[in-house]
Amino acid sequence: MLAKPRSVVFANSKGGVGKSTLALMASLGIATLHPSSRVELIDLDIQKTSSDSLRRFENSRFSVLENEDFFLNSGSPNNGNLINHMGSDFPYRNSQKYIIFDSPAGNEPSRSTFLSHSDLIFVPTSVGDADVFATLKYLGELQELFGKQKTNIDGPPPPVVLLPNMVDSREEFNELRNHFTKHSVYFGKPLYYAPVFRRAFRSDENDTSVAKLLQQAKPYIGWLTDLIARADQLPLPPKKLFQL
Ligand SMILES: Nc1ncnc2c1ncn2[C@@H]1O[C@H](COP(=O)(O)OP(=O)(O)OP(=O)(O)O)[C@@H](O)[C@H]1O
Ligand SMILES: [Mg+2]
Repeated sequence: MLAKPRSVVFANSKGGVGKSTLALMASLGIATLHPSSRVELIDLDIQKTSSDSLRRFENSRFSVLENEDFFLNSGSPNNGNLINHMGSDFPYRNSQKYIIFDSPAGNEPSRSTFLSHSDLIFVPTSVGDADVFATLKYLGELQELFGKQKTNIDGPPPPVVLLPNMVDSREEFNELRNHFTKHSVYFGKPLYYAPVFRRAFRSDENDTSVAKLLQQAKPYIGWLTDLIARADQLPLPPKKLFQL
């Protein structure tokens, strides 16, 4: 077990690429597949668009944390408080804690220095030109942040894993991957487009649709949660795009 919580961030400046959906799948995945874990989901959207509807999933191992101290008056992340929170698990308990951050569209890495202190950054993207363009820009901004912070932080920056989402076909997946070949980040398995995702996490939806989704996406969720559990074993940033 690690001495501190493991922190994972779902981020992209582009809206609607699946950050919230994937953050919730990862949270529920860890809580159900890793019985000796505790999962805390933190919604970094000041509007709290998702956290309200997620309360119904809360139990002894999954909680949704809301804390005004995580925000500055401007609505930007309060990096100091976030970094403190990520650094310790108090009161200490005998199970590994995971902190999963969902972040809003428009997130700017330069204002989110807490990103460098996380253990893993997932960048969901989908296949539209606008999504690819925004994601490429976001990757550049992340590298800039890591470059600036290098001197202040011990150890390498967190691994960055692109998550291709809402993919229609294998051809589309390959096409998407080609856009990122020169980037020194990891490339995840594809999550295909499926209508069941559209409804599952709405607050007015019954839990059968969530159960159905978790069942249907089981192999993907298993892959994602394993990756989170062994994030420290990912080697240093790959020289170029590395398909996981
Ligand atoms: N694989 C998928 N197949 C079909 N629909 C999907 C899939 N992934 C996500 N969606 C749907 O796409 C929409 C956007 O997803 P989501 O809200 O997770 O994106 P987001 O990046 O969090 O958006 P925002 O930036 O607005 O917070 C939602 O309606 C969601 O249900
Ligand atoms: Mg969202």
